[in-house]
Amino acid sequence: MCGIVGYIGDNSALDVVVSGLEKLEYRGYDSAGVAIYEDGGIHVYRALGKLAELKKQLKGESKGKSGGIGIGHTRWATHGKPSENNAHPHTAGRVSLIHNGIVENYIELRDELKAEGCQFSSETDTEIAAHLLNKYLEEGNEPFEAIRMTCDRLRGSYAFLAIDSQHPDRILVAKNATPIVVGISDTEVFVASDIPAVLGHTRDFLILEDGDFAEVKIGSVRIENNGEPVERPVEHITWDPVTAQKGGYKHYMLKEIHEQPMVIGETFRGRLNIEEARIHLGDVSLTQDDIQRIDRIVLAACGTAWHSCLVAKFYIEMLTGIPCEVDYASEFRYRTPVITENSLMAVVSQSGETADTLAALEVASGKCHTLAICNVLGSSIARKVDHCIFTQAGPEISVASTKAFTTQLVGSLLLALHIGEQRGEVPLEKRSKIISDLVHLPSAIEAALESEEQIKQIAKKFHSAQDFLYLGRGTCYPIALEGALKLKEISYIHAEGYPAGEMKHGPIALIDEKMPVVVVLQKSDLLFEKSLSNLREVHSREGRIIAITDIQGHQELHDLCDDVVELPYLSEELSPLVLTVPLQLLAYYVAVLNGTDVDLPRNLAKSVTVE
Ligand code: G6P
Repeated sequence: MCGIVGYIGDNSALDVVVSGLEKLEYRGYDSAGVAIYEDGGIHVYRALGKLAELKKQLKGESKGKSGGIGIGHTRWATHGKPSENNAHPHTAGRVSLIHNGIVENYIELRDELKAEGCQFSSETDTEIAAHLLNKYLEEGNEPFEAIRMTCDRLRGSYAFLAIDSQHPDRILVAKNATPIVVGISDTEVFVASDIPAVLGHTRDFLILEDGDFAEVKIGSVRIENNGEPVERPVEHITWDPVTAQKGGYKHYMLKEIHEQPMVIGETFRGRLNIEEARIHLGDVSLTQDDIQRIDRIVLAACGTAWHSCLVAKFYIEMLTGIPCEVDYASEFRYRTPVITENSLMAVVSQSGETADTLAALEVASGKCHTLAICNVLGSSIARKVDHCIFTQAGPEISVASTKAFTTQLVGSLLLALHIGEQRGEVPLEKRSKIISDLVHLPSAIEAALESEEQIKQIAKKFHSAQDFLYLGRGTCYPIALEGALKLKEISYIHAEGYPAGEMKHGPIALIDEKMPVVVVLQKSDLLFEKSLSNLREVHSREGRIIAITDIQGHQELHDLCDDVVELPYLSEELSPLVLTVPLQLLAYYVAVLNGTDVDLPRNLAKSVTVE
C-alpha cells in the first residue's frame, strides 16, 4: 500500500516527486525516499518517519533547479521494519528502484543473488528486484528487456518503478496486482500509484493493467503485456483533488470497504501452500513442540478488533481443539488472569498502538508465548510480541474500521488452521477445502459489494429510525455486534447487537413497528431453523426485519422480512466475512443520509493511545 511517484520533464524532478508524495502520504508513512538523476549520477535521499523528515533532509538540495528525472516513495512496511535502510528507493549498481506490493519468493532469490556476490543493505523484499534489474542491465540487455526478465523471476504482487543511470531519459515500470497510472502531457510524463499524486500537473492518464511492462519517456510510452505490444486508452480525469485523494469515492470509509477484495487477497498471499494444504506464517516461529504444548489461547483486543476475536474463538476451537477465551483488553489488564507457560496470549490490533491492548499484552509478556494479529509493522504491539501475523490492509484512514476487520478474520483463520494442522487436528481434506475457499474469498467479497444499490434503498427506508437491533447466532453474532457498532459509530443511532437466541430475555421488549431488526443469517443446518423462529417472534410483534444472508430464495424468509439481501455462500468459516460487507455499507449509507462526518465521527479517535 505504499505510494509511488515518478517524473520526467522540464520542471524540477525533486519538486514534482516530493509534492506528489505529499498527496500520497495516506498510503504509508513510516519512511520516505527519492532518487533523482542529476549531474551524471543518481542521488538517493531517504528518511525514517513521515515525509516531513525527508523534506528536512532535502532542504538546500537542488530544489527549483529545472529539468530532470526522479522517482519517490512513501512506505508502508511489509517486509523489514521501518528504518532508513529499509526505505525505498533501493539501489543496486546503476539502478534505483521503488516498489509497492510483496515479492513472495524473495528469500530464495536473495540467497541466489548473495551466492553470486550481491551485497544487501536492507531487510526488504524489494532490494532483490533492484539487484536483478542491475544484473540483467549489466549483462547488456536493453532496459525494457531487463525489467521483463526481472519480473519473470518474481512471484507476488508488485508495481515497480526504476531508473538506470545509463539511460536517464526513461522510467521502467512493471505492474502486477497493484495499481499504476501514467500521466501524460506534451513536455512531461508522470508515473504514480494513484492519480491524485500528479493530478495538479495533468488530467490525461493511461491506466496500466496487470502484466503490463512499460518504458516511459517524454512523448512515448511503450507498453507490452504477455510479450505483445499493447496500447492503453487515454482517460481524461475530471475529479476535483479532494475526491481524487479518495480514489474517486466520497469518503475514505467507502474506499476502504471497496478495497476489501484486494487486501484480503494480500493478507493470504504468500501464506498458502496449496499443494500440501498448509499455512506458512513467516513471522510466527512457534515450533511444533511449542504448539503441542499450548493448552489455552487467550485473545484480547478493543473495539472492532475485539469483535474479530469473537470470530477467531470459533476458528480456534473448531480447528485446533484448544480452549479459547476472549477478553476486552481494558478488562483483562485489570483482572488477575490465569496465564501459565502453556498459554498462548494473542492480541489483535489494527494500529498496534491501542494503550489497553498493549497493557493486556504486557500482563502476559514473559509468562507465555505472545502473538499479535496487527496491521502496522514496527508498531509498539508488533515490536513487543514474540510472534506476529501482519494483516495487509494497508493504511486505514477512516475512523470506522472496515478492511482491518475482515483482514483480521483472515489472519485469525490462518493462525487457527496453522495450529490445527501442526497438532494433527485438521485432516488434509478439510485443510484443502478451507484453503481453496479462501482463494475464492476476494471474488465472493466483490459479489457482496454488488449489494450496494439494494443497501442504499434500505438505508433510505430506515435512516430516521432511532434504534436498531442486530441479531445473529454462532459466528454471525460477532458480525451482528460489528454491524451495530459501525452504525452507532458513524450515524450516532443507538444500535444493539444481540445473540438471536437471547432476544427473548430482554430485547424483545423493545420491538415495535418502528424498530428495524437486522438479522445476520448464515446457511447452517444447525442454526438456520432456530434463527427463523426468532424472526417469526419479531414479525409477530410488527418489527421491521432486514435479513443479510447467504441463503438463496427462501420463501418464508422473504415473507417475514421487509428486505432480504442475498449473498453468495462460500463456507461456514468464510461466510462471516461475506456477511460483514452489507452491514458496513448499511452503516455508511445511513450516515451519509443523516449528514454526519463519516470519516471523522464525533468523539472517536482512530488510534486510542491513552486509557
Ligand atoms: C478505536 C477505533 C476502532 C478500533 C479500536 C481498536 O476505538 O476507533 O476502530 O477498532 O480503537 O483499535 P486497534 O488499532 O487496536 O485495532
